[in-house]
Amino acid sequence: MSNFDLILKNGTVFFKTKREVTDIGVKDGKIVEFGNLSTAKEIINCSNLFIFPGLIDTQCHFREPGGEHKETLETGTKAAALGGIVGIFEMPNTDPLTVTPEAMEFKLNRANQTSYVDYAFYFGGTAQNSSNLNEWENLKGVCGIKIFMGSSNGNLLSSTDEEIDKILANGKRVVAVHAEDEDMMNENKISILGESNDVAMHHLWRSEESCFNATKRVVAIAKKYNRKIHILHLTTAQEMEFLKNHKDVASLEVLPNHLTLSAPECYEKLGTLAQQNPPIRQKHHQDALWKAVIDGTIDILGSDHAPHTLEEKGGIYPDTPSGTPGVQTMLPIMLNHVAEGKLSYEKVIDLLAYGPLRIHKIKNKCETKIGNDADFTIVDPNKTHTITNKEQASKSGWTPYDNKKVKGFPVMTIIRANKVMQDGELLSHHSGKEIEFDIS
Ligand code: DOR
Repeated sequence: MSNFDLILKNGTVFFKTKREVTDIGVKDGKIVEFGNLSTAKEIINCSNLFIFPGLIDTQCHFREPGGEHKETLETGTKAAALGGIVGIFEMPNTDPLTVTPEAMEFKLNRANQTSYVDYAFYFGGTAQNSSNLNEWENLKGVCGIKIFMGSSNGNLLSSTDEEIDKILANGKRVVAVHAEDEDMMNENKISILGESNDVAMHHLWRSEESCFNATKRVVAIAKKYNRKIHILHLTTAQEMEFLKNHKDVASLEVLPNHLTLSAPECYEKLGTLAQQNPPIRQKHHQDALWKAVIDGTIDILGSDHAPHTLEEKGGIYPDTPSGTPGVQTMLPIMLNHVAEGKLSYEKVIDLLAYGPLRIHKIKNKCETKIGNDADFTIVDPNKTHTITNKEQASKSGWTPYDNKKVKGFPVMTIIRANKVMQDGELLSHHSGKEIEFDIS
């Protein structure tokens, strides 16, 4: 008789405080034992492979409902599994917006039918629904509240202090913030962009001051209510300097794109494919983001997977949509940064597992320990791979990293003991389940 359903044999296991070559025994979808293990229904040889806890992408836009020509929960989560990601948090700027329990229920049902990875959804916060948010934030499948202070694809917008105040006043869960100042950007669009169609202007009118101002405003309101906020996709040196003194209320996210690409080169090389909000900025901002990653100021790395079709991106700037796909390439790009000596494997795991666990209070996941879900992101640190548009599972069908050669690659995605991806092949269908949170 087999003791275990599955044994991962001889891998280098990344525990919270150490890495060690050992075996992992799995039963009924849970991690049950470590050590020298022998009898199981299935044994996977993990010699020379790294076994990370299952990594989570806490910022994805999967466009369903309303934008299914760009992405669906099925195609987006296929991309996630291929990228070594075991769970995703999805954003509310769909059509309709996720601002009612009915809209949330729709997403949960669709994900239940079609998702390849585990999932949770952000509930959109607005002045209009603010009086219900203390109740609706605790609906099942909800990972937090999301607000947009500046417009960015879709009409979920809370640009004034009065609106933000109402949202932050009523509830306890973390409020994720898109911090760009709408009024400043509207003025800049006239005074700085004017009639220009040059995408290289994107980071100048969606200015660093606009990000910094929005961030200062939302931090002040969060302090008033002692409400936890999570500031998404930070891009400026000024915000890094400011926010390191406000970690009592604010957790922080950066994106692989902002750590990897910089202006003006990205706009010269990629044109509107590098157009995203907040924008990719000059190298000195990128250097400040890296410093904050290394010194522990940054809590979470998210992809901000925001797919648009090549046809849409091929329009005339500034009418082209902002955003790039990223859930499939996030881990490979970060592993390549490890290979280049920019950060450690442990730091990557901190940003993609322990950070999400800490900020969102995820239950039973994100750490390799007995009793937790048998979620694993298995990486070959020596595998080299050339990223291509062709291999992207996203419906958008492209990546800003087309033809980039990387070292270190996810070779297996295991979710609650289900082998969902192995060596670039999707094996198991629609096995995703909703992620649970400790909301006590
Ligand atoms: O560039 C972006 N695109 N930034 C966002 O915050 C939203 C996103 C989208 O949904 O396309």
